[in-house]
Amino acid sequence: SQTLAERVTARLRDIPDFPSPAILFKDVTPVLADPEVFGAVIRDMADRRRGSIDVVVGIEARGFIFGAALAHELGVGFVPVRKSGKLPGDTVGLTYDLEYGTATIEIHSDAFVGGERVLLVDDVLATGGTAEAACRLLDQVGATVVAFETLVELAFLPGRQRLAGREIHATVVVP
Ligand code: PRP
Ligand code: MG
Repeated sequence: SQTLAERVTARLRDIPDFPSPAILFKDVTPVLADPEVFGAVIRDMADRRRGSIDVVVGIEARGFIFGAALAHELGVGFVPVRKSGKLPGDTVGLTYDLEYGTATIEIHSDAFVGGERVLLVDDVLATGGTAEAACRLLDQVGATVVAFETLVELAFLPGRQRLAGREIHATVVVP
C-alpha cells in the first residue's frame, strides 16, 4: 500500500513556466479534489500537533485552504495572513524582499494578545521568503510559532535553511 507522501505525489501536477518562465509550478488542486487524500493530509498534519496548538495561521491564498481545514480538525480557531490591503480592520504588516521588488503581508492587530501557540500552514515551501516573513510577523505580535506545516517542500531551494531553528514538516519533500 502507498504511503501518504506517495498518494500526494501522485496528485501533484507540474505546470511548467507558471506564473513566469523557468518556474515549475506545483499545482495542488488535484489533492484538494480527492476527498480521501485531502482528508488524510489534514488528519496527518493534525495528528502531529494535537493538544499543542492554540490557533492555526494560514498564508494567503492556498494556505487558507489547508489551514482552515486543519483548524477545524484540531478544534481551534483560524487566523489569516493576507496580502496588503485585504483585511478590513486595523492591521500589523511586514514588508519583505522578493527576487525583484518587495511584498507586504498583514494580520489583524487584535488577532493575538501574545503567547498563543501557533501552527503556521501553507501549501508550498520554496525559497522560504513567504514563510519567513509570516514567522517574523507572528514573532512581532508576540505569538509563538510552534511549527510550520506545508504540503510540499522544494528541497532544492533554501527554504528550510531560511527558517533555521523552526520546526518544519512537509508531507512531500521534492528533492
Ligand atoms: C506560493 C506558495 C507559497 C509561496 C512559496 O504562493 O503558495 O505561499 O509561493 O514561495 P516562497 O517559499 O519562495 O516564498 P504564491 O506567491 O503563488 O501566492 P498564492 O498562494 O496567493 O497563489
Ligand atoms: Mg502561496
